[in-house]
Formats: sequence, C-alpha cells, structure tokens
Amino acid sequence: MSKSNKNLIVFSEIDIEKALKNALQKSRPDIINEVRDSGLKGRGGAGFPTGIKWNLAASAQGDCKFVICNADEGEPGTFKDRVLLTDYAQQLAAGMVLAGYAIGAKEGIIYLRAEYTYLKADLEKTLEDLRAKNILGENICGKQGFNFDIHIHMGSGAYICGEETALIESLEGQRGEPRNRPPFPVTVGYLGCPTSVNNVETFITALHIVEKGAKWFKTHGTEKSTGTKLFSVSGDCENPGVYEFPMGITIEELLNQVGGQDAKAVQVGGASGNCIPRHQFSKTIAYEDVATGGSIIVFGPHRDMLQVAINFMEFFCDESCGQCTPCRIGTETILEGLDMIEDGCCSVKYLRELVSLGETMQLSSKCGLGQSAPNAFLSIVEHFKSELFDDSFRR
Ligand SMILES: Cc1cc2nc3c(=O)[nH]c(=O)nc-3n(C[C@H](O)[C@H](O)[C@H](O)COP(=O)(O)O)c2cc1C
Ligand code: SF4
Repeated sequence: MSKSNKNLIVFSEIDIEKALKNALQKSRPDIINEVRDSGLKGRGGAGFPTGIKWNLAASAQGDCKFVICNADEGEPGTFKDRVLLTDYAQQLAAGMVLAGYAIGAKEGIIYLRAEYTYLKADLEKTLEDLRAKNILGENICGKQGFNFDIHIHMGSGAYICGEETALIESLEGQRGEPRNRPPFPVTVGYLGCPTSVNNVETFITALHIVEKGAKWFKTHGTEKSTGTKLFSVSGDCENPGVYEFPMGITIEELLNQVGGQDAKAVQVGGASGNCIPRHQFSKTIAYEDVATGGSIIVFGPHRDMLQVAINFMEFFCDESCGQCTPCRIGTETILEGLDMIEDGCCSVKYLRELVSLGETMQLSSKCGLGQSAPNAFLSIVEHFKSELFDDSFRR
C-alpha cells in the first residue's frame, strides 16, 4: 500500500501514552478549544467542525454519553480507514479516549464495517493491550475518576448504516434507517443519550492536534481547510493506494503524485461525489472548492463515462433504504434513463427531465444518500454529454 513519503500528521509517529497523559492534565474545555481552534473538520465526508461537535455533546444534558467511531467505510473507492484500523488502531483508541474525556463519556463503540470482520480479532487484541497499560479502563493514565472503555460492534453490511443516525438505529438493534433531524445525535443519540459520532481519521487527527497544538496543525492546508487529509486513490493510475496530502492540493498535483497524468476525469468523493473533467484539474481539494471524504477514482482516456454513471447509479438503487420517495424512485428512474441511453432510445429532452429529477432529489431527499446519489450522474451529463450519445465507446 503506497503512502505519501511525507508522513505529515495522520501517518506520523506519536507516543500515545505520553500524549494522553499530557491531554488529561488539561481541562475539558481546553481540549475542546484546541480542537476547535485547529479548524479540524470531520473526515467522514460531511466536514462538520469537530471542536463544535464535541462542545455540543459536552454541553448537552445527560448522565450517560457516548463516543462512536464510524468505521463503516462503505463509500465506493474508500479504503483509508481500513489502513488506519490495521496499522494505527492504538492511535484510534487513544483518540476515542480523548473524545470521551472531552465530552464526558465513559463508553466508546467502534462500529466496524461488516466486510472488515477479519480485522476484529486484531482490534480486540489492541484494546486488551491498552487495558493492560491502563490506557483504557478505570482512572486512565492515573487520572482519578476518568473511566473509559471501548467495545466493537459489527456493522450490518449496508452503505446507509454509515449515515450517523442510521448507524445509531443499527447499533440499537433496529433496521438501519436515517432518523429525522433535529434532534441531532449530539443531544439525542445512542439510547437517547448525547453522542459524538466521528470518523476513524478524525479521532487520530484530533489526538495529534491536542499533543502538538492547533497552530502547528494550521501550518498545513488552507485557511478554510486546515491540516492534511488521507486519500484512497484507485482506478487508472500507476500507484494506487492511501496517501496523505495537505488540504488544498490541486487535482493535477495529486494525479502527478499517483501516476495518473493521462486521466480524462477524476471522481472525487466516491459514488456520492463529483466527476471532475480534465479541464478542471486545477481545482483544489478543499471544503471551499472540491470537498471529499477521501475517495479518488481515476478514469483513463479509454473509460466509457456512461458505464461509470450506470455503475454508480446501480449502487445507489441497491443501497437506498427506501424510506423516502425522491431517493427510492429517483435512483431507479435515473438508472432506467441511463439504460435507455445505452440502448440508443433516450432523447435529449428526456435527459433534461432526468437532470431536473436529479436536482429535485438533491433538494428533497431525506438524508445524504439520496441528496448525493445524483451527483455523479449530473456531473457526467454536464461534462461528458456528447460522449453519452457517442456509441463508438460501446462498439
Ligand atoms: C449514506 C452515508 C454514508 C456514510 N458513511 C460514512 C462512513 O462510512 N464513515 C464515516 O465516517 N462517515 C460516513 N457518513 C457520514 C456520517 O453520517 C457522519 O457525518 C460522520 O460519521 C461524522 O464523523 P466526522 O464528523 O468525523 O466526519 C456517511 C453519510 C451518509 C449520508
Ligand atoms: S434519502 Fe434514500 S437512503 Fe436516505 S432516507 Fe431517503 S430513501 Fe433512505
């Protein structure tokens, strides 16, 4: 697995015992303020500021609070959390302990993607080792009265269970379907208690921030997108793998690093992201430009973009939980339209109606799945319309 040769933040070394001992000497508000001042935004995709989320959970009323690690990693083309769970599990656990201390939780749960069952035994062993070192358990690292432990809960094998409220439903033993919001999990989460759900990478990044400081973190990235990000790079490039790059890197620079210089398009953000054509490769990967949870799929000159659009839409048809009409019917209708294009029987006028349907889904679907399901389709229509109707790709 390739990694950036400059291991900047997430892939850098840290003595977790020392980092936690230092952190536990600080007050809870000081920890939250450090994370907030760093500008860290959640690495799970939505980009909500982590310090603000922790502050909301910390201030919420409730005797019992929870920290949940979202290790469901179901976005097509994303595998960076798998690397962290494999090689950086101690840092993840320490980041969860830190979050537990900051918000006042005693219990952490790793919601582990069903397909990562093979990682469970090693993760259990890591947690056991940390208990032996008093990094988990009671009076952690000598901090009297601070008790925190972590257990693993296996995911249910559905992409929608990565959406934080569906994840909580699944944890509670219900079918994984998104809840109405508000209330948000920070006030009413797992078992009705204040809960902070964070991505694997977010916990590890926060641990480094609290040890090395918000100022240091902000030396990487852009003003609005601070720090670095892990990218899962796959597709038509010479060196696929997981890389750490500063936020604000241009797509062109990223492609140069991974050997994808002849790409005609890049899907940034997985199936739910956007397809960026070659003439826009000067765009930057940052919350203020092209945002992403880290999935980068490179498409070489020979790729048929209609097949790309069909492939992503089939995924959403399978994964829609079916709870709301725009997503349940919209995904199927767009897929039928794409099949019509493939069969040579879709008019330009009908394609325009499908585009309008996609835009309606973005506005009216209940959760992020339906809101983002049309993204790839819409960007492929916008940038590759002539290719969709050019059957030389399919001869
Ligand atoms: C359909 C769907 C799937 C998602 N899957 C994941 C996932 O696998 N991992 C993840 O961290 N966040 C995922 N999210 C985002 C979560 O709802 C949530 O925003 C995130 O876990 C919060 O963590 P963060 O603040 O650290 O980013 C998903 C969202 C949607 C709508
Ligand atoms: S948008 Fe899709 S996945 Fe989300 S609640 Fe509606 S049907 Fe379910």
